Amino acid sequence: MILKNYNLKALNSFGVDVKTKYYYALQKIDDINFLFNQKKQFLKKILVLGGGSNILFTKDYDGLIIHNQIKGIEKVEENKDFLTLRVGAGENWHKFVLYTLKMGLSGIENLSLIPGCVGAAPIQNIGAYGVEVKDFISKVEFYHIKERKIDKKNKIECNFGYRDSIFKKSLKNKVIITHVYFKLSKKFNKVISYGTLKELAQKKSTELKAEDISNFIIEIRNSKLPNPENIGNAGSFFKNPIVSSSKIEKLTKDYPQIIYFKIDNNNYKVSAGWLIENIGLKGYRKGDAGTYEKQALVIINHSNASGKELLLFSNFISEKVLNTYDIKLENEVNIY
Ligand code: EPU
Repeated sequence: MILKNYNLKALNSFGVDVKTKYYYALQKIDDINFLFNQKKQFLKKILVLGGGSNILFTKDYDGLIIHNQIKGIEKVEENKDFLTLRVGAGENWHKFVLYTLKMGLSGIENLSLIPGCVGAAPIQNIGAYGVEVKDFISKVEFYHIKERKIDKKNKIECNFGYRDSIFKKSLKNKVIITHVYFKLSKKFNKVISYGTLKELAQKKSTELKAEDISNFIIEIRNSKLPNPENIGNAGSFFKNPIVSSSKIEKLTKDYPQIIYFKIDNNNYKVSAGWLIENIGLKGYRKGDAGTYEKQALVIINHSNASGKELLLFSNFISEKVLNTYDIKLENEVNIY
């Protein structure tokens, strides 16, 4: 059923009080045909919403929001080393991670506690603590809105990059992701290269298991990142900027403490959180918008900030970064 003037406050992790003109809860593939056979005006402007944890609404949405609630996890392929699962886009990401751990599978344990749904994971190639989801996705199935048919892309065709994929580029707003295929290992391959994780992992004397990594990550995330149930936020608001070797040379001269990572000979990823903190803007607040006191890269809604207020605040932060370091921050969060 299509609902009108539906409130989205509970459906976006910033907790912004906005409405959508039309709302549809999509629960199964058959519903897609039902929806698109309607030949109605409201099909002209569509936005697919999953967990609502990477989006900032700056005004009411003047179109149809399709709330992806397609569920289900099934085994599709198995051998002695790997198991491939086909997962409904509307499954909760963290619950799915815990399910894979219960099944004795390894791969996505470092991505524990990332908010949102399975269907959103390939869109921005979610990543944390040394792991990116692209390494475990073998296929993505979707409904192509214009072509009115189910289609798929394999891992290579998805064109994954740092917080990037084909679903943020040429297929942006053109498809509804229905299922994601994950190829996970039956053997535990630990990734504990990431700073904080290394320390924690070394503390444990008994043999490490994938569940231990997951528990470590849950602990780290809970200590550093605000829980959207208590404080409105969408995780990192900006991407960590990638700069050239000549730029990093200049930056390290001016700011010897700067935190950065080498990607290759000419590309360096700079910690945007550090850049913001170094200007003195960690925990900074203007009205109800602010940066989080423990992680400057996270913009928070202290209580009743509007989407516009949060956007203006983010512009203020990126302007300060630009003026100080001559680095242009790119948004990680989708703005509507
Ligand atoms: N740092 C600061 N000040 C800050 C924040 C960070 O100096 O205010 C420093 C930290 O001390 C650390 C480095 O910057 O040395 C990296 O910080 P952190 O481990 O918190 O990670 P991040 O680069 O700020 C990225 C992801 C996060 C992910 C973490 C952990 C992006 C845009 N963000 O943040 O993802 O959880 O790494 O792997 O790449 C998200 O995408 O929403 C998200 C939370």
